[in-house]
Amino acid sequence: MLNERKVGFIGAGNMAEAMIKGLLQSGASKPENIVASDVREDRLSFLHELFEVSVCEQNPEVVKRADLVVLAVKPQIMESVLIELTNTLDMSKLIISIAAGISLANIESHLKRDLRLIRAMPNIAALVLESATAICPGKHASNEDLKLAKAIFDSIGKTVIIEEGLMDAITGLSGSGPAYLFLIIDAMADAGVKVGLSRDNALTLSAQTVLGAAKLLIETGEHPGRLKDLVTSPGGTAIAGLHTLEEGGLRTTLINAVEIATRRSRELGEMMEKK
Ligand SMILES: NC(=O)c1ccc[n+]([C@@H]2O[C@H](COP(=O)([O-])OP(=O)(O)OC[C@H]3O[C@@H](n4cnc5c(N)ncnc54)[C@H](OP(=O)(O)O)[C@@H]3O)[C@@H](O)[C@H]2O)c1
Repeated sequence: MLNERKVGFIGAGNMAEAMIKGLLQSGASKPENIVASDVREDRLSFLHELFEVSVCEQNPEVVKRADLVVLAVKPQIMESVLIELTNTLDMSKLIISIAAGISLANIESHLKRDLRLIRAMPNIAALVLESATAICPGKHASNEDLKLAKAIFDSIGKTVIIEEGLMDAITGLSGSGPAYLFLIIDAMADAGVKVGLSRDNALTLSAQTVLGAAKLLIETGEHPGRLKDLVTSPGGTAIAGLHTLEEGGLRTTLINAVEIATRRSRELGEMMEKK
């Protein structure tokens, strides 16, 4: 079904590039069904050469040519883009916004009409087609619309459907999560260096260990506690390390980090709404 739709991207930056790559690599779409616009000519020629997709400099032209429009500009640019597109966006198009912190109500208030809207929050791992994405439907989006949006984000990773009220929690967990894990990987690499490994080897091994552990958990569907039990032998090394992590409050620290990032996301959203 997605294969037959024309997908338009307003803004041809990092996220649009990741999404186009995912759509094409997974076979969910074809180059002739994708069109993108941007203010930067270099981005347009880059995407055209890399993926053989259509490009144009006019945002309204993309909307006219697409069945499904992805709003992929920075949140600060959103208002001017919505004003520019007011007369072209209508109920015949499915509109997906990936702009962080911009609510469905905010978009609706700018466009002043009923629209089939979906809000999405992918993360930076979209660049390697491993995004953790949450999507939520606006009041006029149908189940079919939601399925189409899910198919798009499934092509760049894993997708969950949530209520909009949980978007700040998503920002705190999977939106900001890559930053937490980069810190953990860096710290593990430091630890490797402290116990005698070269920096290169320590970083390679710590990043691969995080990737491998996540993959094992996802592919086996096992509870993380059970996998932890599997790798801890009585009186062994892993349980000694785990004891130290619990003593240092790693679990509580991570819970606090997600909670505080969720709160910060809510504050930033409120500030943006006031503007
Ligand atoms: N990157 C992430 O990890 C991530 C994660 C979740 C959500 N998001 C959301 O995804 C959206 C896109 O992020 P991104 O990282 O892809 O940003 P980006 O790389 O900066 O891409 C946005 C593109 O839009 C262009 N642009 C600016 N004004 C425009 C206009 N009026 N019409 C058309 N194009 C215009 C920008 O050009 P200039 O560079 O000249 O401004 C840029 O090429 C943002 O709203 C962000 O909140 C990003």
